[in-house]
Amino acid sequence: MRALVVDRSAESRLALAEVPDPEPAPYEALVRVEAISLNYGETFMVSTGQLPDGTVPGWDATGVVVRAAADGSGPAVGTRVVTLGMTGAWAELRAVPTATIGTVPEGADGGAISTIPVAALTALHVLRRFGQTLGRRIMITGASGGVGRFAVQLAVRAGAEVVAVSADPAQVAVLEALGAHEVVKHPAEVSRPVHGVLDNVEGEQMVAAFGALAAGGSLVSVGHSANQDVVFPVGSFIPVDGRHDRSISTFFLLADPHADVSADLTWLAGEVAAGRLDPGITWRGDWTRHHEATATLLGRRLRGKAVLEVS
Ligand SMILES: NC(=O)c1ccc[n+]([C@@H]2O[C@H](COP(=O)([O-])OP(=O)(O)OC[C@H]3O[C@@H](n4cnc5c(N)ncnc54)[C@H](OP(=O)(O)O)[C@@H]3O)[C@@H](O)[C@H]2O)c1
Repeated sequence: MRALVVDRSAESRLALAEVPDPEPAPYEALVRVEAISLNYGETFMVSTGQLPDGTVPGWDATGVVVRAAADGSGPAVGTRVVTLGMTGAWAELRAVPTATIGTVPEGADGGAISTIPVAALTALHVLRRFGQTLGRRIMITGASGGVGRFAVQLAVRAGAEVVAVSADPAQVAVLEALGAHEVVKHPAEVSRPVHGVLDNVEGEQMVAAFGALAAGGSLVSVGHSANQDVVFPVGSFIPVDGRHDRSISTFFLLADPHADVSADLTWLAGEVAAGRLDPGITWRGDWTRHHEATATLLGRRLRGKAVLEVS
């Protein structure tokens, strides 16, 4: 099969090459890949030489099952699916555990659905941590990014009053169109305290976002887009205006043994297919143009998702 493999001698650290087909484990299905969605995280790992030569990277892909799992789990041959894994998505064929496969509705745009696994699943699982959000204020930092856009839409769907944070003035109208009630350039500018924060950014934005929490509120640290240390000034954890019991927790997708990833991927695929969730694709093209896509993403010239179509 052909795959995008790590080649640290190449300028982009990637090459489209012929490699052996993957051999599925008994609990894995073999999927013929149709579309791939890029995440900043995996692309950054490739570009900084963190993966050995010959690795087929990639977390998110859609496609069709060409061999069902030997243990009888998961979808049958011919089923259109959306898949999540730690490697192997950037290829014509992918072996993927059936526990992280969702099904795709008939006629759905596979490119749009490919954006779901890491970005939308992260948004969904983090928002669930805030419990009942009906009528409560939820702040999303890095709201214009892959995780952020899904988080804004899902929080609105869950009845929250959503505060979206984006430093880019061009994103104000975009985020309002997704349903955000308040859009600010920085968490310190928020008009009133919030019940929860989904933080994609870290650094001083995370410190300010923690300062915006109401009593009993919680901040979930998801990402570190600012690539900046988090330094809390002395006294940050002393209750201010009676705002006590505020907490911070970390998050890692796939670390929750109780999450039903297949069911959640299937539900999210249905929402995107029905047009109730907008993946915000801002770059789309054939996978032979991978240099262009990864350079745009890494150069921070892309807000939203990049999709590669496997020709
Ligand atoms: N813990 C997990 O399991 C998990 C899962 C998924 C993602 N992540 C992490 O979560 C973060 C967000 O992921 P993503 O895919 O949504 O990334 P993304 O598409 O690159 O979006 C990141 C957003 O952060 C904002 N940002 C603020 N300061 C920034 C800076 N100095 N440099 C770059 N961006 C900055 C940008 O919005 P504005 O410029 O508009 O403000 C940008 O849209 C990443 O760090 C990713 O690795 C973690």
